[in-house]
Amino acid sequence: MSTIIIGGAGFIGSKLTRHFLQRGNNVLVIDNLCRGRREYIESLPGQERLTFVHADASDTQAVLKICAQYHARFPVDAVWHLAANSDIPAGIADASVDLRDTFMTTYAVLEAMKTLGLKKLIFASSSAVYGDHGPDVLLREDTGPLLPISNYGAMKLASEALISAAAESWLEHSWIFRFPNVVGVPATHGVILDFIRKLKVTPGKLDVLGNGTQQKAYLHADELVEAMLFLADKDSGKCNLYNIGPDDAGCRVADIATTVVERVSPGAQILFGTEGRGWVGDVPKFRYSVDKAAALGWKPRFSSLQAVRRAVDEIALQEGILL
Ligand SMILES: NC(=O)c1ccc[n+]([C@@H]2O[C@H](COP(=O)([O-])OP(=O)(O)OC[C@H]3O[C@@H](n4cnc5c(N)ncnc54)[C@H](O)[C@@H]3O)[C@@H](O)[C@H]2O)c1
Repeated sequence: MSTIIIGGAGFIGSKLTRHFLQRGNNVLVIDNLCRGRREYIESLPGQERLTFVHADASDTQAVLKICAQYHARFPVDAVWHLAANSDIPAGIADASVDLRDTFMTTYAVLEAMKTLGLKKLIFASSSAVYGDHGPDVLLREDTGPLLPISNYGAMKLASEALISAAAESWLEHSWIFRFPNVVGVPATHGVILDFIRKLKVTPGKLDVLGNGTQQKAYLHADELVEAMLFLADKDSGKCNLYNIGPDDAGCRVADIATTVVERVSPGAQILFGTEGRGWVGDVPKFRYSVDKAAALGWKPRFSSLQAVRRAVDEIALQEGILL
């Protein structure tokens, strides 16, 4: 069996690459390494079955050519699309970033799949598609209206729409998974990595974006990968939409800051900002319903805070800090 992973050298993508190589699949990774790294995948067991192509996945012709050559040698069963812009403020400052990396990659992947007759797509979407419904609304897959407040969320939602339209005509099976905040290693971005890197530079103080009350759902990447594989196996409808996340009210940025300081730089002063959100486009509080995934038998094992604690230790180690 062969699998294509777009963005497969990134944080979550490299975990999927590891999984499919371990399972004995041939794997093609397409990644432009704007955030991902070769070293995340180049020493994985099963290397002889891995093909890596450094390319821009928003380039329709390039994606088609690479996938066509690969599919001719190793007939492809499924395509996992994880490439996107991971810097939400950068996408707010320049809308072309999310247009290219978050949306055009989806367009290019779908066009290539259609031409090659590939019928199975798994897509990494995000809680950002919901926009800001406030802290009291439990976000379910049918919650609306969907009014994203970042270009990232807008382009994820547009990608979902394109997949749904393809499912109506030629795409036989698609899974759209809406992730919460995902933590773990190899960390390429995110609040824990930011805090740890700041403390490496100034061990005595930690500047936090926002007043620390932002409260969101966090899931460990290992659990996320397990959940996607489980759900993709259990539900094989045309267009399967699932929230994946912890079953709790999330954890506060202040709790993350405290956890990081305790582990990495005990005694450092935590300096909070004044605003209730970290940046423009940040949804400060949200809570997920994962009832739909639970109905199929998937249950998260860790709370948001447990996932954060585990990730803090892992990321500290990645950053060369001995605990
Ligand atoms: N990590 C999270 O908290 C989170 C939350 C919600 C959704 N997601 C989604 O999950 C997916 C994976 O996220 P991640 O956290 O692993 O981020 P990541 O940045 O580590 O991974 C994305 C990968 O895509 C690659 N990429 C970006 N633009 C590309 C392009 N134009 N052409 C080729 N490759 C390109 C990057 O180099 C990177 O390796 C993304 O789609 C992201 O939007 C992540």
